[in-house]
Amino acid sequence: MAETEIKSIQWFPGHMAKTRRSIKENLSLVDAVVEIIDARIPLSSQNPEMGRMTAGKPRLLVLNKRDMADNNITDRWISYFRKKGIAAVSMDCKSGKGLKAFTSALENQVLKDLIETRKAKGMVGAPLRVMVVGIPNVGKSSFINRMSGSKKAKVEDRPGVTRTKQWVKLGDRIEMLDMPGVLWPKFDDQLVARKLAFTGAIRDDILDIETLAMLLLEYLAENYPACLKERYKMDSEGLDGKELLELLGRKRGMLISGGEVNTERAAIMLLDEFRAGKTGCISLEKPEE
Ligand code: G4P
Repeated sequence: MAETEIKSIQWFPGHMAKTRRSIKENLSLVDAVVEIIDARIPLSSQNPEMGRMTAGKPRLLVLNKRDMADNNITDRWISYFRKKGIAAVSMDCKSGKGLKAFTSALENQVLKDLIETRKAKGMVGAPLRVMVVGIPNVGKSSFINRMSGSKKAKVEDRPGVTRTKQWVKLGDRIEMLDMPGVLWPKFDDQLVARKLAFTGAIRDDILDIETLAMLLLEYLAENYPACLKERYKMDSEGLDGKELLELLGRKRGMLISGGEVNTERAAIMLLDEFRAGKTGCISLEKPEE
């Protein structure tokens, strides 16, 4: 299919500047930065400035929504990041799988040196303070809720810490700085924008829904034909995006007068089902790309 344009999307420089400032101002208060990303798009859901913004602080990547991604590929991503010297774990905040691995990675890898230094100074049991960041929709709130349990215990005010800053307990030893501000992904890159739109991380109304659905169908036909077969009883071989969307609409009986397919309805249905994880466990990025 010809590269149909995903309308030019803005980078929200104002929001980003505010968040950048907030991260910079608060970095000295934390021991580590936890970045939540989407396991289906580990690169596209990372903020490209994160490494630079948090330079000098130990960092832990959490590949969330593991249940929606292709397991083998998620494991390859974890190895990929670890080979680059970046600690990474995967998680499913819906069920809570991976929470223990997170705590263990934070204590035994990312903050191991700090914990040992504190131990040597007799400061056993001091809280580990983290900043949790992530672009919208990666599951940051779900992660915080999971980690903090039903009661989101706030930590009492501390000297030197202004009242606008809130510390939330995540488990017994970890305290999280609840920071205002939204971290935007870098979606002025068409490919990145497309993947963020597939997962629902950016709004539909800035994109042409049928084009998006055709692109997703082409990707699925190439990489996950069995999922199309299983969910929609579709044989996708040899079909382009337009043909795939028409076939999908036909399979679902989405017809308009004259027997034509209502491709808009089919597109909305496909994206809704994909975002709800009904299409299968699908990764949209592989480490070698
Ligand atoms: P955010 O703070 O980063 O913006 O994300 P939030 O926690 O609000 O999560 C965004 C959506 O992703 C929510 O779905 C949430 O339930 C879902 N989600 C978060 N973590 C996981 C996960 O590990 N696996 C799966 N499958 N889904 C996850 P929603 O449809 O917006 O709301 P609802 O389904 O919770 O009602």
